[in-house]
Amino acid sequence: MSLLPIVTLPDEKILREVSKPVSGVDSHVKKLWEDMLETMYRAPGIGLAAIQVGVPQRLLVIDLAKDGEAKTPLFVANPEITWSSEVLSDYEEGCLSIPEYYEMVTRPAEIRLRYLDRQGEAQEMHAAGLMATCLQHEIDHLNGVLFIDHISRLKRERVIKKFQKAQKLGKL
Ligand code: NI
Repeated sequence: MSLLPIVTLPDEKILREVSKPVSGVDSHVKKLWEDMLETMYRAPGIGLAAIQVGVPQRLLVIDLAKDGEAKTPLFVANPEITWSSEVLSDYEEGCLSIPEYYEMVTRPAEIRLRYLDRQGEAQEMHAAGLMATCLQHEIDHLNGVLFIDHISRLKRERVIKKFQKAQKLGKL
């Protein structure tokens, strides 16, 4: 396994790309998933999309296990949300591509999902709570959408400017 560099703001060009479905789960996908997982654990974070390491493929890894708990990695390819609840919930979200910035985001509280698992088998799952939020956040990445797109324009422009300024100052 190897650690991969994570693309962060202000590099929106890559983060805004729409990722393409994979044709199946082959050894290349499995290797990328392992590297993404290691990169996510090291960061540390609870979810990572392939585009965040510069690969425009519809692949995610998620692990909501807390520090000290046994790891519970979820490998997801080609996810499709087939149902979203009308009930909404608020979570304070963050993103490894937008370091040290957190903001409340409102999303459907529950979803149903179709995807390919680690073995390339078609699966369906129902997700609620943090898992529902995390899946929606990561699937957004596959469509070039960032969590700051769900907050006010003023706040979004402010955070993007902050990263542009930090880059100019050589702090990124
Ligand atoms: Ni993110």
